[in-house]
Amino acid sequence: MTDPSRFLAGRRILLGVTGSIAAYKAGEVVRRLREAGAEVRVIMTAGAGEFVRPLTFQALSGHPVHRDLLDEAAEAGMGHIELARWADAILVAPASADFLARLAQGRADDLLAAVCLASAVPLAVAPAMNAKMWASPATADNVRTLGARGVVLLGPDEGPQACGDTGAGRLLAPETLVARFGELFASGLLAGRRLVITAGPTREAIDPVRYLSNRSSGKMGFQLARAAAEAGGQVVLISGPVSLETPPGVERVDVESAQEMYEAVLAALPGTAIFIGAAAVADYRPARPAAAKIKKTAETLTLELERTPDILAEVKARRPDLFCVGFAAETDDLERHARDKLVRKGIDMVAANRVGPAAPEAGGVFGSDDNALHLFWPGGEASLPLASKARLARQLIEHIATRLEAFHAARPEPAKVVPLGGTTTAGMQEVE
Ligand code: CTP
Repeated sequence: MTDPSRFLAGRRILLGVTGSIAAYKAGEVVRRLREAGAEVRVIMTAGAGEFVRPLTFQALSGHPVHRDLLDEAAEAGMGHIELARWADAILVAPASADFLARLAQGRADDLLAAVCLASAVPLAVAPAMNAKMWASPATADNVRTLGARGVVLLGPDEGPQACGDTGAGRLLAPETLVARFGELFASGLLAGRRLVITAGPTREAIDPVRYLSNRSSGKMGFQLARAAAEAGGQVVLISGPVSLETPPGVERVDVESAQEMYEAVLAALPGTAIFIGAAAVADYRPARPAAAKIKKTAETLTLELERTPDILAEVKARRPDLFCVGFAAETDDLERHARDKLVRKGIDMVAANRVGPAAPEAGGVFGSDDNALHLFWPGGEASLPLASKARLARQLIEHIATRLEAFHAARPEPAKVVPLGGTTTAGMQEVE
C-alpha cells in the first residue's frame, strides 16, 4: 500500500459522515487522514449525529463540526459554498444507502449533499450498510449513476455485520480507506514524462552580505512539482531560496541567483519534455557585486544593474521541441500582456494572474495559499477561478497534459523516460 502522506500531506480534506453504525469508525479515518498530513474538516448529517457526538470529530479534527445548511451563524462563518471551495477532495465515510440515493438524485437538502453538489473536486464514497441494502437493485442503480459521474467508490468490505448478517456492506478498514483515498490524486497523466520546474525567488548579490530579491514564496512552483509527480511525471525542481519541503518523489536542486538557476536548468534539460518557469527570476542584477561589504561612507549609493538571462525564453530558443509554460503577474490588461509574453518568448502556454489592487480576491498573491489563474495558449484560453494553489496546480497540470497532445500532434514527440527495470511507459499507455 502507498504511504498516504505522499498524496495527502498538506491537502484540505472534507470528510462527510452519514447515518450508519460505522459512523464511529470515522473517528479513526480522521485520525489517519491527519497523520498523513491532511487538514480535515468534518460535515455530519443529522443521521450521523444519532450515532456519534460532534465533539468527537471536533476533538479529532481540531475544527468545529459543520452540520447545518440553513443556520445563519454557520453560513456567516464557513458556509456551504465556502466549504465546497475550501476542499481539495471530499470523502464520505461511511456513506449510508440513503446518502448515496440523495447524492445520485443531486439533492441539496442538507449541508453535506449541498456541498457535494456545489463542488467540482474529486469525490469518494465509502459505503457502509446492511448487506441486503447494499445488494438491492435501487442501491446498485445509484452506485452506477454515481460511478458514471466520476464519483469514486471505496469498498464496501465483506464480513460479519453489526446487525448479525454477513456479506458485503462493511466500511473498509480506515487504514485501507485512507490509503486508497490518497491514490485519487494519482492521475498518471504525465506518466513517463520528464519535467523541469523552476520555483521561488532568486537572490542577486550586491556584496557578500546583501542581495536584491522579491517576495515569491515558491508555493505555486512547489505545488506544481507535486501535482506533476502525482501525475506520474519525473520532476526536477530547481528552486531559489524558500522554506518549503520538497514534495515526495521530486528531485530538488537548490540555487541562489538567476545565473545559477539558468545553469541548473540547462544541465537538467536532456530528456525533458516539459519546462515550467514558475520562479520569480530577478530581471536585473548588480553589474559589479562588491567583493567586500560596502561601508556606509557616502550619502547616496548608486547600483548599476544589468539584465539576467531570460531562462524561459532561452530554453524555448534552444529546445523548440519542449512544451514551455511561463507565468505572468500583471496589474492590468491581463490578456494583452499575457499574449504578448506568449509571442515574445515563443512559449506554448502562459499562466497569468492579477497582482496588486486589481486582485483583492486573491488577498495579495505572494505567500498566499490561494490564487486564481487565467491560461492562454496560441488559439485558446481557460479560466481557473480562485482556489488553493494545490488545486490550481492539479488543474494546470491537466491542461498542460491536454495541450501537450496537440503540441506533439504537430511535431515529432521526444523519447519518453523508460522506468527502471520495466517496459517503456509508451507501452504501458497502450495497454490502458
Ligand atoms: N523568467 C525567466 N527568466 C527571467 C525572467 C523571467 O525564466 N530572467 C520567467 C519566469 O519564471 C516567468 C516568466 O518568465 O515564467 C515571467 O516573464 P517576465 O517577462 O519576466 O515577466 P514580468 O517580469 O512579470 O513581466 P515584464 O518583463 O513584462 O515586466
